[in-house]
Amino acid sequence: MKVLVIGSGGREHALAWKLGQSPKVSKVYVAPGNAGTALDAENVSIAEKDFPALIDFCKENDVKLVVVGPEAPLSAGAVDAFTEAGLRAFGPSQKAAKLEGSKVFCKEVLNKACVPTARAQVFDNAEDAYRYVDEGDEGGFVVKADGLAAGKGVVVASSKAEAKEAIKQIAEDRAFGDAGARFLIEERLMGQEASVLAITDGHTIVTLQPAQDHKAAYDGDQGPNTGGMGAYCPASLVDDDKLHWIEENVLLPTLITLNRMDTLFKGVLYAGLMMTPQGPRVLEYNARFGDPECQPLLSRLKTDLVDVIEATIDEKLCDIEPLVWDERPAVCVVMASEGYPGSYEKGFPISGLDEAAKLPDVKVFHAGTKLVDGVVTTNGGRVLSVVALGDTVADAKRKAYEAVAKISWQGAWNRTDVADKEIKAVQN
Ligand code: AMP
Ligand code: GLY
Repeated sequence: MKVLVIGSGGREHALAWKLGQSPKVSKVYVAPGNAGTALDAENVSIAEKDFPALIDFCKENDVKLVVVGPEAPLSAGAVDAFTEAGLRAFGPSQKAAKLEGSKVFCKEVLNKACVPTARAQVFDNAEDAYRYVDEGDEGGFVVKADGLAAGKGVVVASSKAEAKEAIKQIAEDRAFGDAGARFLIEERLMGQEASVLAITDGHTIVTLQPAQDHKAAYDGDQGPNTGGMGAYCPASLVDDDKLHWIEENVLLPTLITLNRMDTLFKGVLYAGLMMTPQGPRVLEYNARFGDPECQPLLSRLKTDLVDVIEATIDEKLCDIEPLVWDERPAVCVVMASEGYPGSYEKGFPISGLDEAAKLPDVKVFHAGTKLVDGVVTTNGGRVLSVVALGDTVADAKRKAYEAVAKISWQGAWNRTDVADKEIKAVQN
């Protein structure tokens, strides 16, 4: 069977690599892909939201399965368009993807489902929001643009002034365009974060092993939020008891509530959680695999992903065997362009990829890369996701950073403390 993956990030490289390992798959295409997917699959130069061209490509090339990676095409109705054209596509419908595409809608669903989450107030103008902040406590606010903003539309404010600056940027300056037409102000929660992803056909959930992302740009969780600067899995912070609690009190009630709202959610339901002293609280839902969490997760998954995806599309997930995992933990370090998550230059040649690829138990997934005259060059903010498996999480970290040390380009940087919290936790 021929498969098309839509997207061009590290997550899509990992998906293409994993799908290509299935004995059922004869060929993987990626649209538009990157320099890494050109090695592990074949790139197709069609934009991720050009659905008519993508559908024509699938029909002309006998593609039997489409896997949509990123939130933007999902929110724009990719799965609906493919399905209407008679193709099999993995991911939520446009209606269901609203769970990620609108933080206001997500909060409504969470509250309806009685799922524990931060208290929040919705605003559509800056004046009311400024007044709300003035009346509240210093340092207790998180300001969130309603719509999609590539992980950058959330500001955790440590003072009223910072909260007001965020409101100004989102609501007045429209830093995120229409995504800021409405926004939320939430109570600030404290605790460690975990990503719990489940594959679901709308009835049954198949929960993946918990992972932890590193959203802040710099070491020690300092600096602005990014799309994610590193990840590891499994995350001991979510032990089996907590995972079951999350399934019963977070994931399943959410699905039931969506079903009652006539919204069948099929695809990846990703709960971004904060483990507070009062228990897990949902910060957000995503409607797709996390990037970079997908990279260490799929590096450890032994089950054929095609079987899980097909069972999801057919609404037969209840029939599949429990997932099989590589016991070894995986650590993923993201290498980024100078200036990211702010503005950055592109087009620097990357060296050392071949040496890194020779290291055992290491896989370098590409994100913002492009082949220019046969040379791999930088083409985005998050450039590479370097994943290593190890006997322990410390060993996986050591191997990942050994590979990172072999790779360079002008201005390359990365966090140096990915997985340190886990290493400390398992030592204690
Ligand atoms: P979100 O896109 O809603 O997950 O927010 C991005 C990041 O902002 C999260 O991963 C957290 O680090 C932080 N964040 C979001 N909501 C809250 C909250 N209510 N309290 C504290 N931090 C938050
Ligand atoms: N790693 C965060 C995200 O995918 O949204």
